[in-house]
Order: sequence, then C-alpha cells, then structure tokens
Amino acid sequence: MTLAQELRPEHEHGLVRGRVALVTGGTRGIGAAICRRLAAEGASIAAGFRRQEEQAQKFLASMTADFPDARITLHEGNIGSADDCRRVVREVIQQHGSLDILVNNAGITIDRTVAKMTDEDWQKVIAVNLSGAFFIAQSALDHMLKRGTGRIISVSSVIGETGNIGQANYAASKSGLFGLTKSLAREAVFQLQRADRPVGDGVGLTVNAVTPGFTSQVKSGPSTAAWTCEEMSYEHPPRGPCPVRGTDRDRQVRWRSVERASVRSCRPGGP
Ligand SMILES: NC(=O)c1ccc[n+]([C@@H]2O[C@H](COP(=O)([O-])OP(=O)(O)OC[C@H]3O[C@@H](n4cnc5c(N)ncnc54)[C@H](OP(=O)(O)O)[C@@H]3O)[C@@H](O)[C@H]2O)c1
Repeated sequence: MTLAQELRPEHEHGLVRGRVALVTGGTRGIGAAICRRLAAEGASIAAGFRRQEEQAQKFLASMTADFPDARITLHEGNIGSADDCRRVVREVIQQHGSLDILVNNAGITIDRTVAKMTDEDWQKVIAVNLSGAFFIAQSALDHMLKRGTGRIISVSSVIGETGNIGQANYAASKSGLFGLTKSLAREAVFQLQRADRPVGDGVGLTVNAVTPGFTSQVKSGPSTAAWTCEEMSYEHPPRGPCPVRGTDRDRQVRWRSVERASVRSCRPGGP
C-alpha cells in the first residue's frame, strides 16, 4: 500500500482541498508528517526548512510521487530571523496566490542545566521557537485578516506546561507560545470585528496551539503514540466563551477539523 493510500482523506473531497498550507520545519520529523496529512486532505503545501537541503529535496521528491496532484514548494529560511520570516510568507503568497493555513512547527532544543546554560543557548532557542513563531504569524495574520479567513497553529509541547530539568530555554519558549496564541487570537477577533469584515468564505479565522508529548521518529514519520493535544482555540465569529479549551487524548490525534470553525486537534501521521 502506498503512503498516499494509507493517508486516505477523512472527508470525501478532502478537508482542506484548495487551501494553501505553510508548515515551517516541514521537510522532516513532525512537520513532514503534518505536510503529508494536509496534502492527503487536498491542500497545497509550502514546506519550510533551514539547512538540510538534501533532506528537503528528498521530501519534495517523495511528496511529488505520493501526491502527484498537489502543488508542493520548498522555502529555505531561518525562522530565527525576522526578515527571513517575512520573506518566506511573501514567497509563499507569491507562488501559491494565498496562504490559508500556517503551522508554526520549526523548533530546536539546546538542553543544559540552568547553571550551564550560556546566553547564546538561551537566545537561540527563544529566537527560533518563540520569536520566529511571532514574526511569521505576524506576516501571515496580516494577509489572513485582509481575507477574513485563515488558520494559525503553533506546535508547542507538554514541556511548555510542565517545565523540565535541562530545558529552561525550551520550556520558556513553548510556554510563551500559549500567551502568543491567545493574544494573536484575541487581536484577530478584535480586528475582524472592528473592520466589520465578513467571515471570509465561511470558515473564519482561528489561532491555536497544540502540545504534543514525546514523539519518536519511525521510518514513515513520527510515532503518534505519545501525543496528547491540549487545545486552545479562539474563533471568529466567537462561538461560546473564549478561550475554548480542552484536551484530546486520541492515540491518533487528528487534523480533522482544520477546515471547520475550530481546529480541534492534530495528527502528525505515521502508522
Ligand atoms: N519530537 C518530539 O518529541 C516533540 C515533542 C513536543 C513538541 N515537539 C515540537 O514539534 C516540532 C517539530 O519537532 P521535530 O521533533 O519533528 O523536529 P526535528 O525533526 O528536529 O525537525 C525540526 C525542523 O525544524 C527546522 N528548523 C530548525 N531550526 C530552524 C530554523 N532556525 N529555521 C527554519 N527551520 C528550522 C528543521 O529544518 P532543517 O531540516 O533544515 O534542519 C526541521 O525541518 C518542534 O517545534 C518541537 O519543539 C516535538
């Protein structure tokens, strides 16, 4: 069975058919699995990467083979640089015509105890995992607000909730994504209401964060066994009290609602 057959769309016509998704760090690991799932659901894919050009080309070749009808592009850039973030978003909009779904997935770890952590260890992790997510979301949100529709999903971590020995920088960056997500969401709702903008094409604009647990890499993508998914969701127009908050402990956490009013959960793919 081919991968494309394994990743059957959950919806007859694909939940995100015709949408354009930018996944930062999309050419390997969890990001690559997210790209595969979104492509299987009909999205065009813009996958970001930083250094591993060869891996990115391999990813492109396998995606093109598995999803011959999908438009797949690669975008090199350092998410730790505000200029690169803005350029990547511009590039995606120029090449695909729009940007509907942003997945802030790129992330790094530089683990050391607090006593041994250098200034650079701290700043690098914050720059990529938190500041990068802000700069890229800032550019994407501007485009999404104009269109009145979009999805922004940041991949945080359970470590952002619990903290961890040797991961003060990583935990702070992932925890920071919660505040960033909630603020972006509140601002998005505020701006849309202020502009009295119609709700895009009916699906509105949502901003969410998901918090995977440890996800090990297996041959066909990350194993999903350890995922838990803490969801923070804001919607435009708001339905019920904000924030909507809940947990999803599905073994196979899914992207099933990306196209509905709110992203309920996510699945990185895999067996
Ligand atoms: N794996 C886990 O157990 C786990 C658990 C919870 C949360 N998460 C989060 O899930 C996300 C993906 O994790 P993963 O394990 O799949 O990571 P991974 O396999 O190490 O892949 C990281 C990806 O991010 C890209 N990247 C790294 N630094 C970058 C930068 N400065 N600019 C642009 N792209 C950059 C890499 O690009 P190159 O290929 O070019 O290097 C790569 O594509 C991360 O945010 C991570 O914190 C992971």
